[in-house]
Amino acid sequence: MKKDYLWWRDGIIYQIYPRSFADSNDDGIGDLQGITNKLDYLQGLGIDAIWLSPIYPSPDVDFGYDVADYQDIDPKFGTMKDFEVMVSEAGKRDIHIVMDLVLNHTSNQHPWFIQSMQSKDNPYHDWYIWRDPKPNGNPPNNWQAVFGGSAWEYVPELDQYYYHMFYKEQPDMNWRNPQVREALLDVFRFWLKKGVDGFRLDVFNAYFKDADFKDNPAKLGIRGFDRQKHIYDVSQPEMFPLLGEIHDILDKHKEAYAVGETFLADPKQTADYCGANKLHAAFNFDFAANRWHPLRFLNSALKWYASLSDEAWPNNFLSNHDMKRAASRYCFGEDDRRAKVAAAMLLTLKGTPFMYYGEEIGMRDIPIRNKADVKDPIGKTFWPVYKGRDGCRAPMQWNSEINAGFSKINPWLPVNKDFPMRNVVQQASDPDSLLNFYKQIIHIRKSEPALQRGDFTPLVEDPHHILAYCRALGEEEIVVVLNLSSRDLQFDLPEGQWKSLIDETLSFTGCMPLTPFQVEILKRKKE
Ligand code: GLC
Ligand code: CA
Repeated sequence: MKKDYLWWRDGIIYQIYPRSFADSNDDGIGDLQGITNKLDYLQGLGIDAIWLSPIYPSPDVDFGYDVADYQDIDPKFGTMKDFEVMVSEAGKRDIHIVMDLVLNHTSNQHPWFIQSMQSKDNPYHDWYIWRDPKPNGNPPNNWQAVFGGSAWEYVPELDQYYYHMFYKEQPDMNWRNPQVREALLDVFRFWLKKGVDGFRLDVFNAYFKDADFKDNPAKLGIRGFDRQKHIYDVSQPEMFPLLGEIHDILDKHKEAYAVGETFLADPKQTADYCGANKLHAAFNFDFAANRWHPLRFLNSALKWYASLSDEAWPNNFLSNHDMKRAASRYCFGEDDRRAKVAAAMLLTLKGTPFMYYGEEIGMRDIPIRNKADVKDPIGKTFWPVYKGRDGCRAPMQWNSEINAGFSKINPWLPVNKDFPMRNVVQQASDPDSLLNFYKQIIHIRKSEPALQRGDFTPLVEDPHHILAYCRALGEEEIVVVLNLSSRDLQFDLPEGQWKSLIDETLSFTGCMPLTPFQVEILKRKKE
């Protein structure tokens, strides 16, 4: 590896939703052996790390985000041995492993919760958040669950309510209990010992709730959860000392990393969680919410950078397992030109790029037509207003064979019907494909430290059509010019002679022509 290269800052992190990536034993569900089989593909793509959505034993009420054992592998994904093989094979290819830690809540099938339900004097009772009813029998306060209804579930046998920020099958842990704190910090130690390199912390800013359980104030909104200001159920100050402790655990391991999923946080609040003695990084949801407009992306990136302290490093993403894929949001039909521009933006802006499996071939969401087909419980709850998250979780499209080469039997979610035309094998053989474009830009990024950790300066010119910026590190200067529009345009380059890194036979001085949706990455020629 090159000098000064730090995998989580300079590299690219690729999110895998394991159920949907590759099925090695043809039971319709992706698995660890499937991922191991595809490591050569991932190495060829040029990524540095994979973030695995949860693979722990889970009853799958929320597809792995309800964990029944933090220190094991769900048999549907394979065995601990399969995991160890995957980690070691990934290591041979310089691919790091980032585990998803879901520590705000467990499954209601976790032995800790089963104990907690036994009686009020069970030693595990206080491991979860139990409260007596109000004198009239009502829930302890007005808090709502993200996934619908009151966040409090009444248990008649105990005459108490327990708190669940998500489904009632996902009871929240009581992080104020010192034993809980130790048990959950042990989860970090356990996986670090197994050789993983980092963690993605699921809704970490919800670990602590207001000590007095005060009612949230009301605001306007559609769903119950959105009709409250979330002052008391998320983002409590107790999180900061805990982040220091987590940081200390990670510090004992070389280049270990943690990225947080900040829930209901604006860029400023998100940035406050990153830096010395805090998280290495946190997700900026603001960026992925942008409409297709250069100024939207630019202003959002600038706001993000300005919020972060000097010790913190930004990251950027456009898709994940909870939202409509970027290609579905930005592209029209099968036209991938906007997907190419988005790829170039993600891979050249300042910040670690996070890709979501299938993004490199422009996978689109699958349509969700019938309530009966919906797998994601929030899709069932909020149907037809919100159809859930199945759309972005469909099987990876490997080739044009049965089920896109994902599995020989019908997968847990249908494969997108566009797979005969849109798949890895087909795109690998097409020099103009999105896949080959991703590979090219990743290769450019990997060869240019300025694109990894250089400063960022916007170049504002025709900002309603063009997004342009300079990335500079030491003597190296790189200019990125993205035509977000379908028009032929021109761009006045900063002084000097600029060599194209996209087509090395080209170089420009002064005014450069731009075709519709053109991506140009240029390096200043040294005198
Ligand atoms: C996070 C996950 C999401 C899950 C929720 C509850 O937001 O990304 O998939 O449903 O947490 O764990
Ligand atoms: Ca399988």
